[in-house]
Amino acid sequence: MKGQSILLHHQTHPVRAVFWEKNCLNLLDQTELPAEERYIQLNSTDQVIEAIKKLVVRGAPAIGIAGAYGSVVAALEAQRVVSSNQQSYFENKLKALEMARPTAVNLSWAITKMRSVFESSNKTFDTDLIENLLAEAERIHKEDIDSNLKMATLGGHLLGAGAVLTICNTGSLATGGVGTAYGMLAEGYKMGKVTLVFACETRPVLQGIRLTAWELNRARIPYRIICDNMAGTLMAREKITAVIAGADRISANGDVANKIGTYSLAVLAKAHNIPFYVVAPTSTFDLNLMSGADIPLEERDASEVLSVLQGKTPKFDIPVWNPAFDLTPNSLISAIICERGVINSPNRERIAETLKAK
Ligand code: MRU
Repeated sequence: MKGQSILLHHQTHPVRAVFWEKNCLNLLDQTELPAEERYIQLNSTDQVIEAIKKLVVRGAPAIGIAGAYGSVVAALEAQRVVSSNQQSYFENKLKALEMARPTAVNLSWAITKMRSVFESSNKTFDTDLIENLLAEAERIHKEDIDSNLKMATLGGHLLGAGAVLTICNTGSLATGGVGTAYGMLAEGYKMGKVTLVFACETRPVLQGIRLTAWELNRARIPYRIICDNMAGTLMAREKITAVIAGADRISANGDVANKIGTYSLAVLAKAHNIPFYVVAPTSTFDLNLMSGADIPLEERDASEVLSVLQGKTPKFDIPVWNPAFDLTPNSLISAIICERGVINSPNRERIAETLKAK
């Protein structure tokens, strides 16, 4: 990864995973966590695309925000191209940004917003356009911070007393603010309800043990990491009051695409009579899709699964299937919490009703 890097030794709260400074997109490099807290500065769209693909920045809302700032980077780059090519240069970069990851709809949602700022301008790559694009990116970022806080409060009130289970990383690293599922459980902890957080390690990229552990440790919230295949036994043997997950895309009927392993947790939660909550802002809903069957589910490189061998490479090929996301049908979801309200037993009508309420 190109881009200047700065080592930060004493990180203070809150974590800023994505921000704009000195005409650059700044990212906390999540591939280095939890060992190193290293920020990188990106000033080319190709660097931003590479960072999104390599999970330097990840989590649906965070990649939406990074894509929005990435569009400003693209416009700044277009300024340096001969003027007759500026528009096509910019449009091609937006298309490439939009395709960097396929499942999280927040990315294309943010790029669509950025594109419409350009479409409603005089299409000249002047200071005004850059300022308007940056203002839109900052609005997207700010909206996410506000939504996170609303969802945390709404979700916190739903929780009973006891331990909760979560998956992947859905905190400040994955969003613009306090997080989605993480925000809810952290609020539950503040309210004195959540006594312990169990977090799945989240094979194969380990967002749970690397990133959620890092955030829970910083927040001093008591937690235990479990391997993903321990969830059933955990639910059978310990009192788990709720399973809480984020989302990368939610179809109009309330089916949820999220990190691989979420579906198994939802099935297990149903079998053990534990409420299964999904926390996601309205930017994660894709009302154009009638059901989850239409959501593109990203498949990633085999090397992510094989890295567990830590260089002990066998003398034969190990074929791998590595879907990064799975689909949880609405029938397994107790409620979806978004910034506009709590959607109990989500279905098409309840989602349409809540999303149209301002
Ligand atoms: O592959 P990742 O790390 O980008 O996957 C992230 C998730 O699946 C999160 O649960 C989801 O984006 C919601 S984060 C607020």
